[in-house]
Amino acid sequence: MATAKISGLDKEMEISSAVTLFNNLAMNGVMVYNECGGKGRCGKCKVRLLTEQDKRIKKVNDIEKKHLTQEQIEQGWRLSCQVYAIKDIEIEIPSFIDKSK
Ligand code: FES
Repeated sequence: MATAKISGLDKEMEISSAVTLFNNLAMNGVMVYNECGGKGRCGKCKVRLLTEQDKRIKKVNDIEKKHLTQEQIEQGWRLSCQVYAIKDIEIEIPSFIDKSK
């Protein structure tokens, strides 16, 4: 188990490396804006990994390369439905609904 801290929210949650970050967030009531339900088609579920350590989680895959510019990738942007976090991370989510309240 690892934890995800969401920047700008006073929120930290346990996440499983067996489930995508998108689904981990959803299971904790944080619905990242998307149009494909986490299937890697819409490119809308962007989150930004905020530390250098976060950016080494896993290589950006071909699905992400289709939806992200090289500049975004260098800035730490990822598609949350493609990321499996194996260590503690801190993320920025530009568009989401918090249903946990
Ligand atoms: S939810 Fe559509 S690409 Fe991630």
